[in-house]
Amino acid sequence: MALNGKRILLIIGGGIAAYKSLDLIRRLRERGAAVRPIMTAGACEFITPLAVGALAADKVFTELFSREDEQDVGHIRLARDCDLIIVAPATADLMAKMASGLANDLASTVLLATHRKVLLAPAMNPAMWSHKATSRNVAQLRDDGIHFVGPETGEMAESGEAGRGRMSEPLAIVAAAEALLDEAPKPLVGRHAIVTSGPTHEPIDPVRYIANRSSGRQGHAIAAALARLGCSVTLVTGPVTLPDPAGVETKHVETAREMMAAVEAALPADIAVMVAAVADWRTVFDEGHKIKKQANAAPPALQLVENPDILKTIGHHAQRPKLVVGFAAETDDVEQNGRAKLARKGADLIVANDVGHGTGVMGGARNQVHILTPEGTDTWPDLDKDEVAARLAKLIADKLAT
Ligand SMILES: Cc1cc2nc3c(=O)[nH]c(=O)nc-3n(C[C@H](O)[C@H](O)[C@H](O)COP(=O)(O)O)c2cc1C
Repeated sequence: MALNGKRILLIIGGGIAAYKSLDLIRRLRERGAAVRPIMTAGACEFITPLAVGALAADKVFTELFSREDEQDVGHIRLARDCDLIIVAPATADLMAKMASGLANDLASTVLLATHRKVLLAPAMNPAMWSHKATSRNVAQLRDDGIHFVGPETGEMAESGEAGRGRMSEPLAIVAAAEALLDEAPKPLVGRHAIVTSGPTHEPIDPVRYIANRSSGRQGHAIAAALARLGCSVTLVTGPVTLPDPAGVETKHVETAREMMAAVEAALPADIAVMVAAVADWRTVFDEGHKIKKQANAAPPALQLVENPDILKTIGHHAQRPKLVVGFAAETDDVEQNGRAKLARKGADLIVANDVGHGTGVMGGARNQVHILTPEGTDTWPDLDKDEVAARLAKLIADKLAT
């Protein structure tokens, strides 16, 4: 609802990802926002002002020295008559101009003249993104209070190119915009939470690994829900296909041991929500080469050793967060097993759920959970994982307030 009735000034830069800004306009308008577009000269090389104007149902602004628009100093009006400015795609060039205060076209002049919040969705070739000059500009812009969403890691539009630099998908940009415009109470401002999410991958050799069916949807949703309440969140995630949540510092790891190290490195924190489905065991193998199938030989025996118990370590840590929340994914005696975990792991609250065959919880969109505390059990109805996350974030905020 945060976008309903809001005025978004959308600046489209000259990158290949400009085509995604057409969908972004639709998504913003679907949520009740009015979109006023500015296109750079570069953007007009990739998509047409006609398409942008038709989707936005508004005039498209392209010129700084426009006699018609500047009769009432139009660039200053554009900079002020909006609730939020989104730059998507934000090119390396536009970011460099912003970082050094240049104002030599309509987009850069408006960006220098505005007092509104500015959200950048960068998009560029990975070499451009990782260039020292771009890193310097990004650091400067963050310091100047500019907000970022993405870029993501993945394949580029140019064939054969991959890495970090893909523009975030329109829905992720919308979520970041909603977070910036959200005027709901922020009870977790000043608090730091560490959230783990996803599975871990335990290597057998360089090509094979042990994993589980966790998708990371629940953990990522909780990280985003805590951030929406004003919390500073460090999300430590195993390998997932989800985008990094908006407004959350995300660390990517593979194994349980890497996750343990990343969680400890993120301490101190007020809140720990350990959602990841961490592999209990890893193999003793640490083969540097692929294990070969041998003719007439027995298959190799997978000898397992125990992984660090992240929840238990944090629950008994010298820097134990004030509130430690664990997840218990069980297939039998869900509540009983969850309750045993509460004491054993040193947690304040366990979210227990049935992940047995046929529940569709692991990897699915919905979850039905029991909230176990020393005081008792609260069973929530079957809910979308985003709704579970929102309720849990609220519960965490209430517990910290008492
Ligand atoms: C085919 C093509 C694709 C490009 N894609 C990008 C891109 O994705 N990101 C970027 O920063 N620059 C990209 N550029 C370079 C920009 O278009 C160029 O820096 C331009 O000056 C940007 O103008 P603007 O920042 O005013 O929009 C691309 C150029 C070409 C020719």
